[in-house]
Amino acid sequence: MPAVVLVGAQWGDEGKGKATDLLGDQVDYVVRYQGGNNAGHTVVIGDQKYALHLLPTGVLSPEVIPVIANGVVIDPGVLLEEIDGLKARGISCERLLISASAHLIMPHHKALDKVTERYLGKAKIGTTGRGIGPAYGDKIARMGVRVQDLLDPGILRKKIEVALNEKNQVLTKVYNRRVIDPDKVLEEYLGYAERLKPYIADTSLVLSRALDQGRVVLLEGGQGNLLDIDHGTYPFVTSSSPTAGGACAGAGIPPTRLTRVIAILKAYTTRVGSGPFPTELLDERGDWLRTTGHEYGTTTGRDRRCGWFDAVIARYATRINGVTDFFLTKLDVLSGLERIPVCVAYEIDGVRHDEVPMTQTDFHHAKPIYEEFPGWQEDISEAKSFDDLPPNARAYVRTLEEMSGAPISAIGVGPGRTQTLQLRPLV
Ligand code: GDP
Ligand code: IMO
Ligand code: MG
Repeated sequence: MPAVVLVGAQWGDEGKGKATDLLGDQVDYVVRYQGGNNAGHTVVIGDQKYALHLLPTGVLSPEVIPVIANGVVIDPGVLLEEIDGLKARGISCERLLISASAHLIMPHHKALDKVTERYLGKAKIGTTGRGIGPAYGDKIARMGVRVQDLLDPGILRKKIEVALNEKNQVLTKVYNRRVIDPDKVLEEYLGYAERLKPYIADTSLVLSRALDQGRVVLLEGGQGNLLDIDHGTYPFVTSSSPTAGGACAGAGIPPTRLTRVIAILKAYTTRVGSGPFPTELLDERGDWLRTTGHEYGTTTGRDRRCGWFDAVIARYATRINGVTDFFLTKLDVLSGLERIPVCVAYEIDGVRHDEVPMTQTDFHHAKPIYEEFPGWQEDISEAKSFDDLPPNARAYVRTLEEMSGAPISAIGVGPGRTQTLQLRPLV
């Protein structure tokens, strides 16, 4: 009954989409358990490129059942667009299952996400503007609208009216925005209901039975460890729990059933949006990483902030998630450097820290302590096995492994499905 969790080890965009896709022929279910269409998971298959936002990456593998579980917040219009877009490219989403308990992103969530960011000015979080934070806020405040409400027009109307009673006051009186008409929202969402009905299921029950029958379930995280609402760089985080613990709550699978935790780890570091980032490079070296690694947001198109590998946060990911395996991605991007700096610890007010500091204030002041390792000049994108890598590339991998505290079981040397070196089985 293997249940494998796949999480981002840094600030997202580590290559979770590619890693999930790679496991497509070894798993029966691929489950998104948190986040929403703030995620952008890229998969390259031959000359085709797919960017998935809400749909689990498993939708691209014909034998896999893709599941959107209870912990996800769903923008139904975006989901249907994504389903239609894939259909137009010959990919069927008919197997998709959507949890009846997942929450819906409503028009007021999107309006509030945008306007609150504007009001924060320089202190803004740099959200994706998709309504994620306000939707999770309403979920916790117990005034959210759920997928199952789409099945009961009377309840749906009541919930929309109750929510807009309050939110329209806030939108108009605090933020000087227009009123949102509950009748129009009801009509729009009843339209979505018609189309989404066939997919709605008790996904926790489905997954429990699947595990009983020995099926392989892969839980595909969005975002990453440091964007976690509890364990990330709060408040510069997303509003859900992408970490392995969040996978259990977000999918309705007990912790005792998890068999493996794979963390996706970029060979350097990137981040989109605001917040502390100790190894960030604000000079031409950062520009070089961005251009060479094509580090532009899959969802918003924003430039990703770039910096060297940070072993402190990799160790932190191991600790918080109980990582059993790392999947190191984008090693190919580092080809051509004379020497590669790696952050091994931080210096904060003259004191060395080997772990992520306890307070955000300290994290904001953390200065990286670097060790440098010799680079390699060869193009490694055609490598087929670990032994094909130049000695310095192998040494760099072994160094990261030692510093990060869990084995590196796969290495990405390019965006394509076949550009992966597998060191040991992942499922
Ligand atoms: P995700 O959000 O974690 O799924 O990552 P994104 O898809 O947002 O960003 C990762 C980017 O790196 C995508 O464009 C991938 O196609 C690409 N990618 C993934 N693995 C590798 C790799 O090993 N090498 C290179 N060069 N690109 C990769
Ligand atoms: P994937 O799954 C990178 C960031 C946003 C912002 C913060 C909060 O592709 O790795 P939100 O819209 O979630 O309220 O924004 O989180 N963020 C991501 N950064 N990859 C992602 O997803 C992200 N999803 C959200 O940039 O800083
Ligand atoms: Mg992404």
